[in-house]
Amino acid sequence: MCGIFGAVAERPVADVLVEGLRRLEYRGYDSAGVATLEQDGLRRVCAVGRVESLAGRVAAEQPRGNIGIAHTRWATHGRPNERNSHPHLAPGVAIVHNGIVENHRSLRAELSAQGCKLRSDTDTEVIPWLVSRRIAEGATVPAALREADRTLQGAYAVAALHEGTQDTMYGLRRGSPLVAAIGAGGGYLASDANALAGLADHAVCLEDGDLAKVSRDRLAVFDVNGNPVDRRVIHVDRNASVLDLDGYAHYMLKEIYEQPRVAGLINDRYQEQGVLSNFLPLPPQRIRRITMIACGTSYYAASVAKRWFEQLAHIRTDIEIASEYRYRPLPPAESGELAILISQSGETADTLACLHRLKAAGCATLGLVNVVHSSLARDADSFIPLLAGVENGVASTKAFIAQLMVLARLAVDIAGRRKTLGQGEILGALKSLDQLPSTIAATLHNETAVQALAESFQSARSALFVGRGALFPIALEGALKLKETSYIHAEGFPAGELKHGPIALIEEGTPVVALACSGELLDKTGSNIREIAARGARVTVVGDRAGILSLMDVAVGALTIPSCDELVQPIVATLPLQLLAYHVAVQRGVDVDRPRNLAKSVTVE
Ligand code: F6R
Repeated sequence: MCGIFGAVAERPVADVLVEGLRRLEYRGYDSAGVATLEQDGLRRVCAVGRVESLAGRVAAEQPRGNIGIAHTRWATHGRPNERNSHPHLAPGVAIVHNGIVENHRSLRAELSAQGCKLRSDTDTEVIPWLVSRRIAEGATVPAALREADRTLQGAYAVAALHEGTQDTMYGLRRGSPLVAAIGAGGGYLASDANALAGLADHAVCLEDGDLAKVSRDRLAVFDVNGNPVDRRVIHVDRNASVLDLDGYAHYMLKEIYEQPRVAGLINDRYQEQGVLSNFLPLPPQRIRRITMIACGTSYYAASVAKRWFEQLAHIRTDIEIASEYRYRPLPPAESGELAILISQSGETADTLACLHRLKAAGCATLGLVNVVHSSLARDADSFIPLLAGVENGVASTKAFIAQLMVLARLAVDIAGRRKTLGQGEILGALKSLDQLPSTIAATLHNETAVQALAESFQSARSALFVGRGALFPIALEGALKLKETSYIHAEGFPAGELKHGPIALIEEGTPVVALACSGELLDKTGSNIREIAARGARVTVVGDRAGILSLMDVAVGALTIPSCDELVQPIVATLPLQLLAYHVAVQRGVDVDRPRNLAKSVTVE
């Protein structure tokens, strides 16, 4: 959370900084700011809200400095106002920060007692003061930053400017991502290499404890002991034009419509039988138990896949929410345990904490990750790229479908190696996965019907999503998509669980989205839906032909998905729910790509 960017060039950098922030805005958009080093010292320009507000201020105030740092904020400490916006200043020093300083209270008290005038409510502001004070006592900037690193507790990536060092900026990483690069136009620091597209061809990934010195044409990285080090260099994709809407009104819609192509890519890349098993950190035959760990939408992908690993590959599988799992006492790892950590960003703090904990316990770890230069991809024993491409909308859509597809293929693959499925069953499963690009495209043709349904949600205060089996996690995902994009309260329930309490929520006209597809649970789902329809629920069925026919007498609306194999039903049934959330949000006037209070990459716990 929070994006940081820095640039040093032979010309004023304010525009480059603002453009860098636009590319990092997915990391937070409560406020934004830049600090540049001018002839008369440090100059700070900030604005509350999205980067475009800052762009207007920068255009009006025209900072002229050739070196600067910038920040787009997801507020953790202190309200999103100008005072709390980064960069934060102390005499001679400007700092931008991504992460959390956990011991900020005691540091603030110490600094204040020593006469430092901290002005904001943030945890960050202690950093420039610690650095500034040490420089005033005679330390060099790197030494002062290094000392701050020893004093601070928590996770952070920091970019720093000092008035006495006109041509160099500094980066420090501990726990939050940071890359540095030299390009034709100068030197850069950024939270994410994609922000450097078109500015540099390669970027150096800092590791925890690293300090980078970046000037126009020189980059040096030092480890925690101050020794110069060579770190992993990654290619920056020139075409990672993450801001291109391709004619769509929003990234979320664009990304929904990219799903047939993503499905095709996954099929092409992972087509060959057995190819996904090769990514595993232990042979499929040796796996005795799988634990899948993730947050949010990625957790729902794990919830669907649990069924696949158990049913197809006969492996006992547990699913865990990372923020809970990281603090749970665990028995020692046994041989044959595989942990699969699922994350679009690969930077989710809780998921990474689980990864490091599991690795320390000796468990084999596999990452399923979209951002291939992320910490999860780097630190897991092995990882499978999700191939969804840059996901810019804050609400995850195509990455979820990619997670499901890769997990389904992996489960079938492992089942093949363990011989828990016959060749005929494997070919049947693969066929339905192979057909997904066209099945997904056909499902998305239904958008007009979804748009009409969305209108009926406009006055809703609350909505329920229900399903059974593998469609239950999809109900949860549908509810999450609706609440995060439209701010309508929504909950997902297993249809069979309603009468144990949630049915009390049903009153005349309560909107319920019921997931119902052919399969052995269809009749059971049907009975549960009838029970709530009888109590006044306004039921819309999302399902295949059999599902819709079975509930026609009680439903007020229906969104049809193509009939398909049970394995891929959860994937296909997700699509109308994505479109529904999108259209409800747009009709309600919500900024659907940047809903309030959210950020795409949750790098704090
Ligand atoms: C919801 C959404 C979030 C993420 C969650 C995990 O649309 O995007 O719930 O799924 O924050 O993020 P990753 O997958 O990056 O670890």
